[in-house]
Amino acid sequence: MKTSEGEQRPLLDISGLRVDLADGRTVLHDVSYSVGAGDSLGLVGESGSGKSMSLKAVLRMLPAGARTEGGISFDGRSVAAMDARELRAFRADEVAMIPQDPRTAANPVRTVGDFLTEVLVRARGVSRGQAAEEAVGHLADVGVTDGERRLRQHPHELSGGLLQRVMIAAALAAEPRLLLADEPTTALDVTTQQEVMAILDEQRRRKHLAMVLVTHDLDLAAAVTDRIAVMYAGTIVEFAPSEGLHRTAQHPYTAGLLRSRPAVGTRARPVSLPGRPLSAFEAGPGCVFANRCAFAEDLCRTVQPRLEEHGTHLVACHRAAELATAGSLLEPTP
Ligand SMILES: Nc1ncnc2c1ncn2[C@@H]1O[C@H](COP(=O)(O)OP(=O)(O)OP(=O)(O)O)[C@@H](O)[C@H]1O
Ligand SMILES: [Mg+2]
Repeated sequence: MKTSEGEQRPLLDISGLRVDLADGRTVLHDVSYSVGAGDSLGLVGESGSGKSMSLKAVLRMLPAGARTEGGISFDGRSVAAMDARELRAFRADEVAMIPQDPRTAANPVRTVGDFLTEVLVRARGVSRGQAAEEAVGHLADVGVTDGERRLRQHPHELSGGLLQRVMIAAALAAEPRLLLADEPTTALDVTTQQEVMAILDEQRRRKHLAMVLVTHDLDLAAAVTDRIAVMYAGTIVEFAPSEGLHRTAQHPYTAGLLRSRPAVGTRARPVSLPGRPLSAFEAGPGCVFANRCAFAEDLCRTVQPRLEEHGTHLVACHRAAELATAGSLLEPTP
């Protein structure tokens, strides 16, 4: 797996991850990705493709009874081998999760100040007095200027965008090395989404944090990450540099996702992908995308393609080289 240049060992390294739920359903199959210090990876794909599961696996927060195979290591340490104390420290100090919906993640009866000081006291061991002082600074970092007043407020007194900034401030206050952001702006309205994402991106870069950003939105992911991993039915079908992805997509699924979103500044109409997305346990023996793919042949329905290098991309498609040469993949289908 590639990491950024000069990076000897990735900060987060997931290799051959498979997750089976207690009822035997496979939800992740042979997922590998790594993120170096300061790097950002976007995990993109439709609902049920396993994006959130892969983050939960990193934190060992999978549903009860789930079985995992493969390796997850953080800074060279196996997450599976951590004892309870190490796991607690890993979750509190090294990784921060930014929730999808700040309303459900925030405790409604506690003030913003209680919440932020608690994070600082727990993660960094500072006194409560010092934590309260620092909390105002952390709020200012995420663009909340009247921090003193905000610290006294409860979650219901804040707008969704403001509350998500508080959540980001709390995540950053613990000085983690890795951010796991699972649809961090989906619950917000469109303009607020952009503001919140811009703040998260700026803070991440400034603090040189690694990030895995889960989203349905390819354009958003491409704008704020270095690389994109496209997931389908519990597996990764394409890895690509974020830059220029709309021109360089090589897997028919990635191309389909790109065609299905409205593009500003072009007259091309969005073309929705036919059929519905599959979960890993529903996929047949061949390529996971075969039943929705306009280019599928017999081989695609029987033999699962492996990720292979095609230029700067890794693509799991039997026909990748041929389709790239034909140049037809990104044309709108009639
Ligand atoms: N707590 C759970 N118990 C049982 N099955 C689950 C649970 N959470 C998710 N699943 C199943 O695991 C598979 C992968 O789900 P996951 O939540 O990782 O998808 P996702 O890519 O994050 O989708 P979304 O975009 O909707 O959040 C799906 O088939 C889903 O139904
Ligand atoms: Mg999810």
